[in-house]
Amino acid sequence: MPVTLDTLTALLKRRGFIFPGSEIYGGLANSWDYGPLGVELKRNIRELWWKKFVHQRSDMVGIDPAVIMNPKVWEASRHVSEFSDPLVECQKCHQRFRADQINSVEGAWQCENCGERNTNSTPRQFNLLFRTTIGPVVDSAAEVYLRGELAQAMFVDFPLVLKTTRVKVPFGIAAQGRCFRNEITPGNFIFRTREFDIMEFEYFVHPSEWEKWFDYWREAMHEWIRELGVDSVRVHEHEIPPEERAHYSERTIDFEYDYPFGRKELYGLAYRTDFDLKNHMESSGADMIYIDPESDEKYIPHVIEPTFGLDRTVLVVLLEAYHEETKNGTRRVCLKLPPTLAPYQVAVFPLVRNKPELIQRARDIYDSLKKEFRVAFDDRGNIGKRYFSQDEIGTPYCATVDHQTLEDRTVTIRDRDTTAQERIAIDSVVPYITEKSKRPAS
Ligand code: GAP
Repeated sequence: MPVTLDTLTALLKRRGFIFPGSEIYGGLANSWDYGPLGVELKRNIRELWWKKFVHQRSDMVGIDPAVIMNPKVWEASRHVSEFSDPLVECQKCHQRFRADQINSVEGAWQCENCGERNTNSTPRQFNLLFRTTIGPVVDSAAEVYLRGELAQAMFVDFPLVLKTTRVKVPFGIAAQGRCFRNEITPGNFIFRTREFDIMEFEYFVHPSEWEKWFDYWREAMHEWIRELGVDSVRVHEHEIPPEERAHYSERTIDFEYDYPFGRKELYGLAYRTDFDLKNHMESSGADMIYIDPESDEKYIPHVIEPTFGLDRTVLVVLLEAYHEETKNGTRRVCLKLPPTLAPYQVAVFPLVRNKPELIQRARDIYDSLKKEFRVAFDDRGNIGKRYFSQDEIGTPYCATVDHQTLEDRTVTIRDRDTTAQERIAIDSVVPYITEKSKRPAS
């Protein structure tokens, strides 16, 4: 049976993955903090993405841009004029809702908050950019925006990347980082929040080749989703009709996922044409024209943009990993995370606490494994409870150090998914886990 969001969030809080933000002050609606285990999972996803889409390719470079950019960037990109959601407001309690999310029957809709039947469903546009001010005096001249997407930095830095690297079209500029949007209806845990992390790249191509590259990145996005251990039966492509596309897009496919709260967007793939480079060229005067080194052809490259919400990735990876099962009459919760993503790759247990020599041997093994892997150490309670505790946080292997270890330098390795145990030499633990960790998620 699929896990509910309530069950998952309770586990994630209890085990230190994700906490409600500012909890000791009563929280702040829809803000979440990644705890000690959550931060590891999120970092592992981020690093895997960078490895796949930047380090393992010769046509991609990365940047780490500023959160606050010159406000002219957001004017040129048309985010100031067009990055908005239509909203309607309840005439009684004044709660606001996204116009596309209310259930309007013959022009009337019922407020989810107070139950009022509203007859006015004409939407108003609500800009999603977060505003703030620079400097000690609140002065409209110093008003700036927190970035609403990373993409603009890739366009603004395009001429400098061309100058400072050896990239040739087709090539991409990638970035990862925090974005901010004043969402009208955040919710569903980390699915929709007002600050969130994105991983995305702008892939610059010859205008005549956009379709070829669109299809190429579409397949690469599916491949990435499979590598996360996500079952493709729950992933669906949704072609966005022209009237619903973002202002910059000539074609968009959303990659949707079957969440416990319904089928909704996970990632997006957009064909942004030369919309952004052209607008920045006109507004800033900077030269965005690319000269092909072989043919001398001059043109503004067109852009294919695969975008990946990092927090939604964390959510989907956790939903896919969550299993409740009964083994040998005992019920357990097991996060079957891919070994590359699990917060800990291995846990080391001394079987007993009252034998200093055995504890020391376990500590030595823990210290040496720490050079290669993310490792936990646990010497509390009975061994069965320790296994279950690691199952709940997704640790794929547990190495138990016992009396026999002191005699023959072997340990017991227990597999999270099968619960099978094997006796192996201490010196084989690193190659064993390295090899086994290459397996896809169960
Ligand atoms: N540069 C293109 C862009 O920003 P987007 O579809 O608006 O496209 C990119 O956002 C991704 O960010 C989405 O596919 C989704 O995964 C994630 N995302 C968007 N809004 C979000 C929010 N309020 N909370 C969490 N993730 C969000």
